[in-house]
Amino acid sequence: MARYTRKLRSLGVVVSAVIIVVVCSGFAFNELGAEDPRNSSALELNVDPHKVVGYETCSKCHASEIETWKKTPHYETFLTLHRNPEAKNIADKLGLKSFKSDSRCIQCHYTMQDQGGHLEAISGISCESCHGGAKDWVNVHYDYGGANITREQETPEHRIQRLRNAIGGGMRNPINVYLLAQSCYRCHTVPDEELVNVGGHKAGSLDFEIVAWSQGLVRHNFVRSNGQTNDPSAPDRLRQMFVAGLIADLEFSLRSTSKATQKAEFGITSAKRAKRAADRLRSAQEKLQQPVLQEVLAIFDGVKLKINNQQSLEEAANKINKLGIKFAATVAGKDLTAIDAYIPKQDRWK
Ligand code: HEC
Ligand code: HEC
Ligand code: HEC
Ligand code: HEC
Repeated sequence: MARYTRKLRSLGVVVSAVIIVVVCSGFAFNELGAEDPRNSSALELNVDPHKVVGYETCSKCHASEIETWKKTPHYETFLTLHRNPEAKNIADKLGLKSFKSDSRCIQCHYTMQDQGGHLEAISGISCESCHGGAKDWVNVHYDYGGANITREQETPEHRIQRLRNAIGGGMRNPINVYLLAQSCYRCHTVPDEELVNVGGHKAGSLDFEIVAWSQGLVRHNFVRSNGQTNDPSAPDRLRQMFVAGLIADLEFSLRSTSKATQKAEFGITSAKRAKRAADRLRSAQEKLQQPVLQEVLAIFDGVKLKINNQQSLEEAANKINKLGIKFAATVAGKDLTAIDAYIPKQDRWK
């Protein structure tokens, strides 16, 4: 029990997700994934270990996705992190003993599962790290309306309801690309002051951009071709993803900045990143003239990027989050052609 409690404490943030998920279950979305006033506070969290089923459950139907994933650093970190001298160095500075159980690395490097009151690292960064703990959606997301009904026979109404139910069950479904953008930026901004300032961990992936980082080695677009190919996403999708990424970069850089209490590496890098994300979004908006982006920028303009400003920066991030989801649910790629020149071309994909 003592062991569990200690773990729970180190997982403080993750565990509070349980409560939030319970409070929010059963809400209805206006659009797919569009605004829900209650869900914002859940967004700082990664994955709730009580909802994790593990990637083996997915493998029956998604073997190609698993095979692709196994060639990425997301998978490999499970095997390599504890042997990495740089990781040992960070752990020493923070006084951590074990990477996989007793440490804060589990937030971003591992998938944790609750196994009868005990949390276990079951893999690296897995399907559910990006798509959400699957317990409450896994059996919903592929049910076309009965055992004999195929994808082709599914009614449009059923499809919408199925997607809603899956998202309501905590699925970060690609239908709303902001749901996935959140996953990436939540980890790739590294919102942990002590980890960076004391541990010496990188203050996030500063060159992270969602098109370039999702369409290369991470890409697993098999479902859309019934498993035949793994083609990059179409230009309309990439435009939407690119702008959603700019919004998410701003949201999560503000969340990072909100945690800054010292004028040091972490706070400075996070604030600079937020400013840079806003500048990029502003350049895009000059060409796009989308009201929802104007709202995002107005929120940014209303806050001060300074240390010990947690509440106001978090509130701004929460508002931007809702606008990001709304953006992805309501603005189509074909309305975003004006920024084509900004979108990373294939030679820059990771
Ligand atoms: C019994 C088979 C089955 C299992 C198990 C399964 N899936 Fe799926 N999954 C499907 C099918 C079929 C689709 C295509 C749904 C559609 O037509 O929209 C799909 C689609 C998806 C999508 C794309 C979004 C969508 O709604 O189309 C994601 C993401 C996904 N699955 C993730 C997972 C993850 C993660 C797991 C394991 C936790 C998992 N799936 C387990 C069959 C399965
Ligand atoms: C908030 C998320 C987050 C947490 C918590 C976190 N990391 Fe990381 N870590 C990352 C990300 C994102 C990267 C990839 C950075 C990049 O290269 O862009 C990374 C990269 C690393 C690398 C470099 C890996 C390589 O292959 O070069 C090491 C080493 C590392 N982390 C160690 C740790 C250790 C040790 C802990 C726990 C004390 C930890 N991290 C906690 C997000 C995190
Ligand atoms: C690093 C985050 C990440 C991980 C890990 C991840 N996904 Fe995804 N997944 C995404 C993103 C982003 C998309 C949308 C990509 C796009 O539209 O180009 C996506 C799309 C999908 C789709 C829809 C593909 C299509 O053809 O439309 C399925 C199915 C899916 N993921 C299943 C899985 C399964 C199963 C795993 C585990 C093996 C997994 N994902 C791991 C981020 C991730
Ligand atoms: C749960 C945390 C987490 C999530 C979610 C996540 N990543 Fe990562 N990602 C990491 C960490 C940690 C590493 C570095 C792993 C290592 O090297 O040990 C990494 C590495 C990568 C790399 C390899 C970088 C390189 O320099 O080779 C790519 C590409 C990447 N992530 C893309 C994405 C994309 C795109 C998304 C969202 C769709 C995403 N990641 C979501 C934590 C995460």
